[in-house]
Amino acid sequence: KTIALLTGGTTGEWVVSVKSAATIAQNLDPDKFDVYKIMLTQQGWFYEPADSVKIEVDRNDFSINLKGKKIKFDGVFIAIHGAPGEDGKLQGYFDMLGLPYTTCDALTSAVTMNKGYTKAIVNGIPQLNIAKSVQIFKNIPHSLEQIKKELKVPYFVKPNNGGSSIGMSKVNHVNDLEAAVERAFKEDNQILIEEFISGREFTIGVVKLDGQVTALPATEVETAKEFFDFEAKYTPGVATETTPAMMKPETLARVTEIAKNVYLKLNCRGVVRIDFILNEDEGDFYFIEINTIPGQTATSFIPQQVAAAGMKLNDFYTKLIRETIG
Ligand code: DAL
Ligand code: MG
Repeated sequence: KTIALLTGGTTGEWVVSVKSAATIAQNLDPDKFDVYKIMLTQQGWFYEPADSVKIEVDRNDFSINLKGKKIKFDGVFIAIHGAPGEDGKLQGYFDMLGLPYTTCDALTSAVTMNKGYTKAIVNGIPQLNIAKSVQIFKNIPHSLEQIKKELKVPYFVKPNNGGSSIGMSKVNHVNDLEAAVERAFKEDNQILIEEFISGREFTIGVVKLDGQVTALPATEVETAKEFFDFEAKYTPGVATETTPAMMKPETLARVTEIAKNVYLKLNCRGVVRIDFILNEDEGDFYFIEINTIPGQTATSFIPQQVAAAGMKLNDFYTKLIRETIG
C-alpha cells in the first residue's frame, strides 16, 4: 500500500508532531507500505525527497508529482497533534476526496478537540466523574468574580482547543485567575476553568484492532512540578511514567471498562489516549481529556503501552492501518 504520513501542523504542537512522525516512519514495515512523509506548514504542503527539492502536494486530489509520475495514496496516516490534524479539518477534506485515514472521523475529531464539549458528551458514562468547570468565551461578557464564587481553588485554566498543556496554568489563589485567563486567551478564544482534582494521574490508550476495541496497559504519571506541563511532558526525567501502572486489579478493570466506554460513546476510530485522575479519597475516576491523535514520540505513552502489551510497534501500526485504511 502507498501511504502518506502527514505531519507538521499549524499550532505549537507541530514540533511534537514531527517527532511522532519520525517514530511512525521508523516502524512502518517497508515490505508492506510505501511511505511518503508529507509536511504540512503555513507555507504549504510538501513532500521532501532526500535527493531533490520540495514537491508541493496537489490539493485537488492529495497527490504528488514525482519525476513526471503522479503518485496517489491508498490512505493517510495522520500524525499532526492539534490543528488541522486532530480537529477534524483534514478528516473532512479526506472524506470529500474519499481517501481513508487512521484517525477518528471529522465530527469526533472536532468535538474532542474541544475539552468543554467533550465533557458534555462523556457526562453520564457509568463510574466516570467530571470535575466541575466553567467555560468562558472571549467575545461573550463573563464575570471572573462569579467564577470565583462558583468554583473552589485550586483550578486549572486551559485553552479549550489546546494540547500539550500549551497556554495552561494552575491557579492556587483567586488573585491569580485573571492572569491565567489572559494567558489562555492568547491561545484560544474559548477557555475552560476546571476545579483541581487531587489524586493519581493515569493515561490509557484505547484502540480498535482486528475489529475489537481494546485498552492498552495504563500508565501512571508523577511529576514534581505543579502539574504535567509542556516541559514535564517532553523533557526526559522531569516526570516519572510507570507502564503498566501499579493498580489494584479491580481498579484497573474499572478504568479499562470506563476508557472503552469513552471510546465507544465518542464513536472513536484508530488509537486514542484518555487521561484520568484517580481521586484517592473516594477511589473515583475523573475524566480529564481525550487525545484522538496521541503522541507517538519515542518516549510517548502509546509506544510505552504497546511495548507493555507485548506487541511490537511495527505490528501495532500495521494492524492500525489494516483496521482504518484497509
Ligand atoms: N497532545 C499530545 C501530543 C498528546 O496527547 O500526546
Ligand atoms: Mg492533550
